[in-house]
Amino acid sequence: MTPDPLVASLRQAAQAVPGSKIGQIFEYGRDKPGLIPMWFGESDVPTPDFIKRAAEDALAQGLTKYSDKRGVTPLRDALSEYLSGLYGVTIGEDRIRAAASGMSAIMIALQMLVEPGKNVVFITPLWPNASAATRILGGEVREVQLDVNQHHEHVLDLDKLFAAFDDNTVALFVASPSNPTGWTLREPKMRAILEECRRRGIWVIADEVYARLCYDRHVAPSFLEIADPEDRVIAINSFSKTWCMTGWRLGWAVVPASIGRVFEKVTEFNTSGATTFVQWAGVAAVKGGEPFLEEQKRICQANRDRIQARLGQLPRVRLAKAPASFYAWFSVEGEPDSMALAKRLVDEAGVGLAPGAAFGAGGEGHLRLCFASAPETVERALDRLIPALR
Ligand SMILES: Cc1ncc(COP(=O)(O)O)c(C=O)c1O
Repeated sequence: MTPDPLVASLRQAAQAVPGSKIGQIFEYGRDKPGLIPMWFGESDVPTPDFIKRAAEDALAQGLTKYSDKRGVTPLRDALSEYLSGLYGVTIGEDRIRAAASGMSAIMIALQMLVEPGKNVVFITPLWPNASAATRILGGEVREVQLDVNQHHEHVLDLDKLFAAFDDNTVALFVASPSNPTGWTLREPKMRAILEECRRRGIWVIADEVYARLCYDRHVAPSFLEIADPEDRVIAINSFSKTWCMTGWRLGWAVVPASIGRVFEKVTEFNTSGATTFVQWAGVAAVKGGEPFLEEQKRICQANRDRIQARLGQLPRVRLAKAPASFYAWFSVEGEPDSMALAKRLVDEAGVGLAPGAAFGAGGEGHLRLCFASAPETVERALDRLIPALR
């Protein structure tokens, strides 16, 4: 097919970046009547009322002007108090930068670091957006695949990871807990990574958006606990998953104070700052969101165990209990093509799952099921999936 001349005139990197395979399966199945959608990474619970009311109050007070590019002071103060309490180390408001989503914070971090000829190392399988952003910016993507042990759990081989670094590596992007696997970096390996990155002058972009959905701890281990304030660490976080706020588009980054100004400048040329009244919803979430979060976590954990007990028993299914996140990540013996299987499950079971091929090296041959839904919905989806996967 001859390429469209207008498309052909665009930057090669923008043309070449692969479209989302989750988007593809969504397009395939979205019109199927009665389909149970479990393909996106979001809860079916609406944002709680106390958070919505804070945004309404901010609107009523006329807080509709441009925001401070760093984020409004009450949000930075609230996040400083929240993070310092969570991790037992002081995270000053001068290190906090609000962004118009976790994804926007990731893009800003990458815009500060990536240029043609440089590479970013990713631990995969991984939610594909950050590597796609690296490609759009003209950087090289290097993938280091997690190993899988005999219990189908994911394990990071540090030698393999460090062998991927070279003099052109500007950053390691590590999502822990991970989307899609729930794999979670524990402290000894986190320290080893920090040491190696310090030695080589490599930045760590630590994507910690699932930190609070960790089932064996109050919060997943964070680079913020072990790094010095001026280490080359950018910790990304978001309101989307923790407080059911995916549509609000609000996130934040913790950066060394010395680069805060650059982050602010780059923010100016992306979004000019997160939406002002939405940031007030963020303040309410951070200050009053713990009971809601505890309840969400309890529901998700029960769903995870329910899926393990039912899907995990099928002879062809290989599924490990994720220590964190709200995803079940599994393979099905004899089903190497994840998009074909995801389509069959739309057609035969009326359940929408994400194909593993969307998640880079190590993803093909797997499916991702987001279980942040009402328990009855998860049971109904399992009732439909089990006959199709037997
Ligand atoms: C690992 C990871 N990081 C970041 C994000 C971005 O979150 P948002 O842009 O909704 O704040 C997501 C969303 O799916 C994610 O899974």
